[in-house]
Amino acid sequence: MTTPSPTRRLWIETVGCQMNVLDSELVVAALRRQGWELTGSPADADAVFYNTCSVRQHAEDKVWSALGRVRLEKQARPGMIVGVLGCMAQKDQELVRTRAPWVDLVVGPGQLHRVPGIVEEILAGGPPRIEVSLDRTAGSRDAVTRSFESYDPDRDPSMRPTPFQAFVRTQTGCDKFCAFCVVPRVRGPEQARPPAAILAEARKLVAEGCREITLIGQTVNSYKWTDGGRTTRLADLLHDLDAIDGIDRIKFVTNYPRDMTPELIGAVRDLPKVSQYLHVPAQHGSDAVLSRMKRGYTIGEYLEMHARISEELPRAAVTSDFIVGFCGETDAEFQTTVDLVDRLQFKNSFIFKYSPRPGTKAFDRQPDDVPEEVKKERHRVLLDAQTRASFAGNLPFIGTRQRVLVEGLSARDEKRAVDPGPDGIAQLTGRTTCDRIVVFEAPMRLVGRLIDVDITAAAAWSLSGSVADGLADAVPLPHFDLGSGNATGAGELHQIAAPPARQER
Ligand code: SAH
Ligand code: F3S
Repeated sequence: MTTPSPTRRLWIETVGCQMNVLDSELVVAALRRQGWELTGSPADADAVFYNTCSVRQHAEDKVWSALGRVRLEKQARPGMIVGVLGCMAQKDQELVRTRAPWVDLVVGPGQLHRVPGIVEEILAGGPPRIEVSLDRTAGSRDAVTRSFESYDPDRDPSMRPTPFQAFVRTQTGCDKFCAFCVVPRVRGPEQARPPAAILAEARKLVAEGCREITLIGQTVNSYKWTDGGRTTRLADLLHDLDAIDGIDRIKFVTNYPRDMTPELIGAVRDLPKVSQYLHVPAQHGSDAVLSRMKRGYTIGEYLEMHARISEELPRAAVTSDFIVGFCGETDAEFQTTVDLVDRLQFKNSFIFKYSPRPGTKAFDRQPDDVPEEVKKERHRVLLDAQTRASFAGNLPFIGTRQRVLVEGLSARDEKRAVDPGPDGIAQLTGRTTCDRIVVFEAPMRLVGRLIDVDITAAAAWSLSGSVADGLADAVPLPHFDLGSGNATGAGELHQIAAPPARQER
């Protein structure tokens, strides 16, 4: 492969979930191996990529406006490459071509391995390209599955927001087909990665200094791999990961309530490195709405699952997603969601206003009949309930000592663009094993390490305190360069350590 000279500059903006954050990391790493470097602004980029999300209209609108802005840039510098990657590329391939003909490449999430090759071809004068997977109704399950190729090339630690935390994919796609959700369409059929590949990737990440692995899948706890008569499930993966020397923390998102098995809860209980944190979206509090949403469980079943978690894992934080204003949602139905939040006291919840998505069952068969104003008001009311629950859940931490993985500057000091140097004191942030954000003053060299913090105050979305004497861990990171770990400087790569959303995502 030729290394172009001079260096070409890439700007990438990522919208959406952890899958997209990981995909961007991998695409950037692959392009870096071809001589590309990240740059801080589209204005001096030779290529501008948007890794897109289709889960809600709002996420798509952001990309359409960005494409409008980049058009001017492209008019000024016609040699610049513009790419639309990810879920919108899969869902709106033709629309992108007609509405934004200045886009050079449109590549769906199942075809990302092609990006480096396509970029080279375009640079060599080739025509614009669309590379997407088959629509779910366009062929046999096998053919559609084959067209969504898992994209898990070699990692590049310098491409992550922090080198000591990494996402590892357990599976791609989703087969649950919730009535509101576009993910099964744009991310394709559920496909598990072989356990050996997942574990090998984790070992490699650990050898590079990674201490926290977050397994990601649309329904990560549905993970199932059968080979030679032996079935591996998520609980088995957690056992194997827990045994790897050098890993300190293991998390996994997102869980599907029906697949929260006793074995999995037992693994979280028994394995010391697995975080006491379970993201298990309930989506709604009413059986009638859950049925219209085709979620596949009742509130009774969710409560039973939650009770098992509380019994086995009394220290665990449970978090949820909720949709307000789904088709036909009455005041009384909405109230059941508020009641559920009041009753179960989730650590935090992501709250979304229903956004109809073409290509979903709800879009085809159920009118989006809750007015926007009502959706907004319900969002506010539910957020208030969740804020009360989050604050109440944080209060008992005051006066306790918590082990914290230090992640970096707090949002406050990040905004102030503080650069205190390795020994300078800054306001830092990290997370407890139950995923609570902790803010404290400490020297920058503690970033990437496990420390103990004495909690002195609590707010709804964070705890604060002071560093206890002595480090909780014996081993510092092998090579943590404060300057190189931040892939967020270029474009808007999401932080792995994003605070819990208080607003709509
Ligand atoms: N299993 C996935 C879910 C992806 S979508 C995961 O890994 O998180 C994330 C959340 O967006 C869902 O849990 C749901 O609460 C919300 N959501 C999905 N489709 C939506 C829609 N059409 N309108 C509003 N919110 C939606
Ligand atoms: Fe979406 Fe439901 Fe799958 S929310 S990602 S279809 S479990």
